[in-house]
This record gives sequence, structure tokens and C-alpha cells, in this order.
Amino acid sequence: MSVEQAGELLVLPDPAALAEEGARRFVALAGAAIKTRGRFRVALSGGSTPRALHERLAQQHRGAVDWERVEVFWGDERFVPPDDPESCYRMARETLLDHVPVPAANIYPMPTVGSTPEAAAQAYAETLAAVLDAKTPRFDLIFLGLGPDGHTASLFPGHPEVLAPSGALVVAVHDAPKPPSTRLTCTYKVLNAAANVIFLVAGADKAATLRAVLRGPLDVARLPAQGVRPAAGSLVWLADAAAREIGD
Ligand code: 6PG
Repeated sequence: MSVEQAGELLVLPDPAALAEEGARRFVALAGAAIKTRGRFRVALSGGSTPRALHERLAQQHRGAVDWERVEVFWGDERFVPPDDPESCYRMARETLLDHVPVPAANIYPMPTVGSTPEAAAQAYAETLAAVLDAKTPRFDLIFLGLGPDGHTASLFPGHPEVLAPSGALVVAVHDAPKPPSTRLTCTYKVLNAAANVIFLVAGADKAATLRAVLRGPLDVARLPAQGVRPAAGSLVWLADAAAREIGD
């Protein structure tokens, strides 16, 4: 995959610097979006890497964001109740949303109770289209992670939605190799419509995968993260030094 397609890579010395850089970019993009459009629409990522970034936003950068004008969504979610320890929503609440004045009406968790994963995916697609009022919702910012197997959001290697995108905005995922096995995920249609996509990648266990994604041949079926190439937006990889060990 060429450098152009891979986006900008910024290597930070350690996870704390990575979190700070991510938080700084959130603040800058929020300020710009609120200035021009009166609101900032961000989709958060699950996993462990965003935690430190969330905490920096809630503490060191709390006063730098007009939280009343921030609308919060998720790029994917584990199909567990919102108070489950595995819930991405719960993680975001505990590390960020319980500590900043985002109005409750501006927080749009993926629905994970009371319906099937397929019905929940459809419902969230309708929410995205309604709130962002577009056939193809355009987020101001989407945070994504990278799994050691090359997955991002809940788009896993060999998954039907990766092999043959359905055109849906959100799909249900079954048999995810990363527990919990049932999940909901935004598709490339949403990820590649974003104005800004920022990958957060930390740790030596990601180094070989990051190198393959950025420098290896294009093979989205094997490395779904390679399928993230915003059509009219910026793509930035924030990685810590440990994740950038192998190769050049
Ligand atoms: C999830 C995520 C997933 C995550 C990567 C990286 O719900 O698990 O959306 O895509 O971002 O697996 O996870 P870590 O940050 O924990 O390494």
C-alpha cells in the first residue's frame, strides 16, 4: 500500500505522549468544527488504548472544549449490556463522559439490549442517518484502534463485511475472534466518509501488524485496517515507539 494511501504516521515516544497527541488533536478538530458548523461529531473507539486519551481530555484538556456542542457516537461496540465491563460505552463513560459536560441528549451509544444484533445495527444506522442527516454520515473525527490480527473497529480478517461490503452503514458481527464474539460495527462506508480518522496504536505486539498495514501489499481481507482510506478526509496514525520497532 503506498504511503499516500496509508496516511500520515506520527510516532510518539510512549503511551502517555500518544494519549496527549490524540487529545490535542481532538481539541483542535473540535474547535474547528464548532467554529464552522456549531457542533463536533466524534465516534469513539473501544479497546484499551483510548483510555489514557479519554482521561487526558477529561482532565488536562477539559476546559479547552465546548462540550455542550460535542455529539458522541461509537465506531463499534460489543453486544453486551451498557453496564458490562466489556462495554465500550461503559469504558467511555468511566474515562471521559462522566467527567465532562456533554449533554445526555448528545450521547448516542449503540443499542445492545432488547433486540437482535441485526435489528440493533439497523437501528443505529437509522440514528446515524437521522442525526447526521445524510445517506452517508460524515463524522468530524473517528478514533480507531488496530488489533494484532489487523482488525479495526469490529471489522475482522475474512469477515463477510470486509470481503464484500454490503452497503449498510452498520452491521452485526458474529464469531468475532476477539471476545466478546458478538458485536456491532460501522462499516467502511461510514469510516471512509469521515473528515478525519485517527488510529491509536500502542505496544510491541502491534509492531509487525502496523508495518504490514502501512508498508505491506494491499490485502484488506487479511488486514481490514488497510480498508480505511477516507475518500475526502485525513488519515493519521498515532503510534508509540514500541509499536514502531520493526523495520525502518
Ligand atoms: C474493540 C475495538 C477494537 C480495538 C482493537 C485494539 O471493541 O475491541 O473497537 O477494534 O480498537 O482491538 O484494542 P486495544 O486498544 O485494546 O489494543
